Amino acid sequence: MKGGLFDLDGVIVDTAKYHYLAWKRLANELGFDFTEHDNERLKGVSRMESLRILLEIGGVEAAEDARAMMAARKNAWYVEYISKMDASEILPGAREYLMALRSRGVKIALGSASKNAPMILDNLGITPLFDAIVDGNKVSHAKPDPEVFLVGARELGLNPTVCVVFEDAAAGVEAAHRGGMRAVGIGTHEALPAADIVVPGLSALL
Ligand code: G6P
Ligand code: MG
Repeated sequence: MKGGLFDLDGVIVDTAKYHYLAWKRLANELGFDFTEHDNERLKGVSRMESLRILLEIGGVEAAEDARAMMAARKNAWYVEYISKMDASEILPGAREYLMALRSRGVKIALGSASKNAPMILDNLGITPLFDAIVDGNKVSHAKPDPEVFLVGARELGLNPTVCVVFEDAAAGVEAAHRGGMRAVGIGTHEALPAADIVVPGLSALL
Protein backbone atom coordinates (compact mmCIF):
# COMPACT_ATOMS: atom_id res chain seq x y z
CA MET A 1 0.00 0.00 0.00
CA LYS A 2 1.47 3.34 -1.11
CA GLY A 3 -1.76 5.29 -0.71
CA GLY A 4 -4.68 5.11 1.72
CA LEU A 5 -8.03 6.50 0.53
CA PHE A 6 -10.38 7.13 3.43
CA ASP A 7 -14.11 7.64 3.48
CA LEU A 8 -15.12 10.10 6.22
CA ASP A 9 -18.62 9.37 7.59
CA GLY A 10 -18.52 6.08 9.50
CA VAL A 11 -14.77 5.56 9.08
CA ILE A 12 -13.10 8.57 10.70
CA VAL A 13 -16.10 10.12 12.44
CA ASP A 14 -19.64 9.03 13.26
CA THR A 15 -21.61 11.75 11.49
CA ALA A 16 -24.31 9.24 10.49
CA LYS A 17 -26.23 10.10 13.66
CA TYR A 18 -26.36 13.79 12.70
CA HIS A 19 -27.40 13.01 9.11
CA TYR A 20 -30.12 10.83 10.64
CA LEU A 21 -31.37 13.54 13.02
CA ALA A 22 -31.57 16.09 10.20
CA TRP A 23 -33.31 13.74 7.73
CA LYS A 24 -35.74 12.64 10.47
CA ARG A 25 -36.56 16.28 11.22
CA LEU A 26 -37.36 16.85 7.54
CA ALA A 27 -39.46 13.66 7.36
CA ASN A 28 -41.42 14.64 10.49
CA GLU A 29 -42.04 18.10 9.04
CA LEU A 30 -43.40 16.42 5.89
CA GLY A 31 -45.68 14.26 8.05
CA PHE A 32 -44.02 10.84 8.17
CA ASP A 33 -41.52 9.00 10.35
CA PHE A 34 -38.01 7.92 9.42
CA THR A 35 -36.36 5.13 11.41
CA GLU A 36 -32.70 4.31 12.10
CA HIS A 37 -33.25 1.16 10.03
CA ASP A 38 -34.33 3.33 7.05
CA ASN A 39 -31.24 5.46 7.62
CA GLU A 40 -28.95 2.53 6.70
CA ARG A 41 -30.04 3.04 3.08
CA LEU A 42 -28.56 6.56 3.09
CA LYS A 43 -25.01 5.65 4.15
CA GLY A 44 -22.47 6.70 1.53
CA VAL A 45 -25.28 8.03 -0.68
CA SER A 46 -25.17 11.63 -2.02
CA ARG A 47 -27.43 14.34 -0.58
CA MET A 48 -29.92 14.46 -3.47
CA GLU A 49 -30.08 10.67 -3.81
CA SER A 50 -30.63 10.43 -0.03
CA LEU A 51 -33.57 12.85 -0.39
CA ARG A 52 -35.00 10.78 -3.24
CA ILE A 53 -34.90 7.64 -1.04
CA LEU A 54 -36.39 9.54 1.94
CA LEU A 55 -39.32 10.86 -0.14
CA GLU A 56 -39.87 7.36 -1.57
CA ILE A 57 -40.10 5.98 1.99
CA GLY A 58 -42.64 8.69 2.92
CA GLY A 59 -44.57 8.33 -0.33
CA VAL A 60 -44.09 12.06 -0.98
CA GLU A 61 -43.83 13.49 -4.48
CA ALA A 62 -42.06 16.79 -5.02
CA ALA A 63 -40.90 18.85 -8.00
CA GLU A 64 -37.24 19.64 -8.51
CA ASP A 65 -37.31 23.15 -6.97
CA ALA A 66 -39.15 21.85 -3.90
CA ARG A 67 -36.55 19.07 -3.57
CA ALA A 68 -33.73 21.62 -3.72
CA MET A 69 -35.35 23.56 -0.87
CA MET A 70 -35.84 20.40 1.21
CA ALA A 71 -32.19 19.41 0.74
CA ALA A 72 -31.10 22.92 1.75
CA ARG A 73 -33.24 22.77 4.91
CA LYS A 74 -31.82 19.38 5.86
CA ASN A 75 -28.29 20.60 5.24
CA ALA A 76 -28.78 23.74 7.36
CA TRP A 77 -29.86 21.55 10.31
CA TYR A 78 -27.01 19.12 9.67
CA VAL A 79 -24.45 21.96 9.59
CA GLU A 80 -25.90 23.29 12.86
CA TYR A 81 -25.28 19.86 14.48
CA ILE A 82 -21.79 19.29 13.09
CA SER A 83 -20.59 22.84 13.77
CA LYS A 84 -20.49 21.81 17.45
CA MET A 85 -18.27 18.76 16.79
CA ASP A 86 -14.75 18.57 18.14
CA ALA A 87 -11.82 16.14 18.30
CA SER A 88 -13.61 14.02 20.93
CA GLU A 89 -15.83 12.68 18.11
CA ILE A 90 -12.99 11.15 16.08
CA LEU A 91 -13.64 7.39 15.99
CA PRO A 92 -11.28 5.23 18.12
CA GLY A 93 -7.90 4.65 16.47
CA ALA A 94 -8.59 6.83 13.41
CA ARG A 95 -6.09 9.58 14.16
CA GLU A 96 -3.48 7.05 15.38
CA TYR A 97 -3.87 4.88 12.26
CA LEU A 98 -3.54 7.86 9.90
CA MET A 99 -0.40 8.95 11.76
CA ALA A 100 1.04 5.41 11.68
CA LEU A 101 0.54 5.20 7.90
CA ARG A 102 2.12 8.62 7.39
CA SER A 103 5.16 7.60 9.43
CA ARG A 104 5.55 4.61 7.06
CA GLY A 105 5.51 6.96 4.05
CA VAL A 106 1.99 6.05 2.94
CA LYS A 107 0.18 8.97 1.31
CA ILE A 108 -3.32 9.74 2.60
CA ALA A 109 -6.37 11.08 0.76
CA LEU A 110 -9.95 11.68 1.80
CA GLY A 111 -12.58 10.24 -0.55
CA SER A 112 -15.98 11.37 0.69
CA ALA A 113 -19.31 12.18 -0.96
CA SER A 114 -19.91 14.92 1.62
CA LYS A 115 -19.78 18.58 0.64
CA ASN A 116 -19.33 19.35 4.36
CA ALA A 117 -16.14 17.25 4.64
CA PRO A 118 -13.64 20.17 4.81
CA MET A 119 -15.51 21.77 7.73
CA ILE A 120 -15.72 18.45 9.60
CA LEU A 121 -11.97 17.79 9.19
CA ASP A 122 -11.24 21.33 10.42
CA ASN A 123 -13.49 20.93 13.47
CA LEU A 124 -11.76 17.65 14.30
CA GLY A 125 -8.34 19.29 13.80
CA ILE A 126 -7.09 16.59 11.41
CA THR A 127 -6.93 18.43 8.06
CA PRO A 128 -3.07 18.41 8.11
CA LEU A 129 -3.06 14.57 8.17
CA PHE A 130 -4.33 14.48 4.55
CA ASP A 131 -2.17 14.93 1.44
CA ALA A 132 -5.30 15.33 -0.70
CA ILE A 133 -8.95 15.99 0.03
CA VAL A 134 -11.55 14.81 -2.49
CA ASP A 135 -15.11 15.56 -1.41
CA GLY A 136 -18.60 16.06 -2.83
CA ASN A 137 -17.61 19.49 -4.18
CA LYS A 138 -14.95 17.99 -6.44
CA VAL A 139 -16.71 15.00 -8.02
CA SER A 140 -19.92 14.62 -9.98
CA HIS A 141 -20.46 10.85 -9.90
CA ALA A 142 -21.51 9.36 -6.54
CA LYS A 143 -20.29 5.99 -5.19
CA PRO A 144 -20.51 3.19 -6.40
CA ASP A 145 -18.95 5.12 -9.29
CA PRO A 146 -15.18 5.02 -8.64
CA GLU A 147 -14.61 8.72 -9.51
CA VAL A 148 -13.98 9.94 -5.93
CA PHE A 149 -11.24 7.35 -5.35
CA LEU A 150 -9.69 7.63 -8.84
CA VAL A 151 -9.37 11.40 -8.36
CA GLY A 152 -7.89 10.73 -4.89
CA ALA A 153 -5.24 8.36 -6.31
CA ARG A 154 -4.45 10.84 -9.08
CA GLU A 155 -4.07 13.71 -6.58
CA LEU A 156 -1.64 11.53 -4.60
CA GLY A 157 0.26 10.83 -7.83
CA LEU A 158 -0.29 7.08 -7.42
CA ASN A 159 -1.59 4.24 -9.56
CA PRO A 160 -4.94 2.98 -8.15
CA THR A 161 -3.51 -0.55 -7.85
CA VAL A 162 -1.18 0.56 -5.02
CA CYS A 163 -3.99 2.30 -3.13
CA VAL A 164 -6.26 0.79 -0.48
CA VAL A 165 -9.74 2.17 0.26
CA PHE A 166 -11.22 2.24 3.78
CA GLU A 167 -15.04 2.24 3.64
CA ASP A 168 -18.10 1.57 5.82
CA ALA A 169 -20.62 1.59 2.94
CA ALA A 170 -21.23 -1.22 0.45
CA ALA A 171 -21.43 1.41 -2.33
CA GLY A 172 -17.93 2.56 -1.35
CA VAL A 173 -16.48 -0.96 -1.43
CA GLU A 174 -17.97 -1.40 -4.90
CA ALA A 175 -16.49 1.96 -5.98
CA ALA A 176 -13.02 0.82 -4.81
CA HIS A 177 -13.21 -2.42 -6.78
CA ARG A 178 -14.54 -0.70 -9.88
CA GLY A 179 -11.51 1.62 -9.66
CA GLY A 180 -9.08 -1.30 -9.39
CA MET A 181 -8.37 -0.81 -5.67
CA ARG A 182 -8.57 -3.14 -2.71
CA ALA A 183 -11.08 -2.30 0.01
CA VAL A 184 -10.92 -2.64 3.78
CA GLY A 185 -14.48 -2.77 5.09
CA ILE A 186 -15.18 -0.98 8.36
CA GLY A 187 -18.13 -2.74 9.98
CA THR A 188 -19.39 -6.32 9.63
CA HIS A 189 -19.04 -9.12 7.05
CA GLU A 190 -22.84 -9.18 6.76
CA ALA A 191 -23.00 -5.51 5.74
CA LEU A 192 -19.87 -5.59 3.57
CA PRO A 193 -19.62 -9.06 1.97
CA ALA A 194 -17.54 -7.79 -0.99
CA ALA A 195 -14.75 -6.18 1.08
CA ASP A 196 -11.28 -7.79 0.86
CA ILE A 197 -11.03 -7.76 4.65
CA VAL A 198 -13.43 -6.43 7.29
CA VAL A 199 -12.53 -4.89 10.65
CA PRO A 200 -14.89 -3.35 13.20
CA GLY A 201 -12.92 -0.08 13.23
CA LEU A 202 -9.52 1.43 12.40
CA SER A 203 -8.25 0.69 15.93
CA ALA A 204 -8.18 -3.02 14.95
CA LEU A 205 -5.44 -2.19 12.41
CA LEU A 206 -3.03 -0.58 14.91
C1 G6P B 1 -21.59 10.73 2.97
C2 G6P B 1 -22.62 10.19 3.95
C3 G6P B 1 -24.03 10.33 3.40
C4 G6P B 1 -24.26 11.78 2.93
C5 G6P B 1 -23.22 12.18 1.90
C6 G6P B 1 -23.38 13.63 1.44
O1 G6P B 1 -21.48 9.83 1.92
O2 G6P B 1 -22.38 8.82 4.25
O3 G6P B 1 -24.95 9.97 4.40
O4 G6P B 1 -25.56 11.93 2.39
O5 G6P B 1 -21.92 12.02 2.47
O6 G6P B 1 -23.09 14.49 2.52
P1 G6P B 1 -23.41 16.03 2.56
O7 G6P B 1 -22.73 16.49 3.84
O8 G6P B 1 -22.78 16.66 1.35
O9 G6P B 1 -24.87 16.21 2.56
MG1 MG C 1 -19.20 6.27 5.01
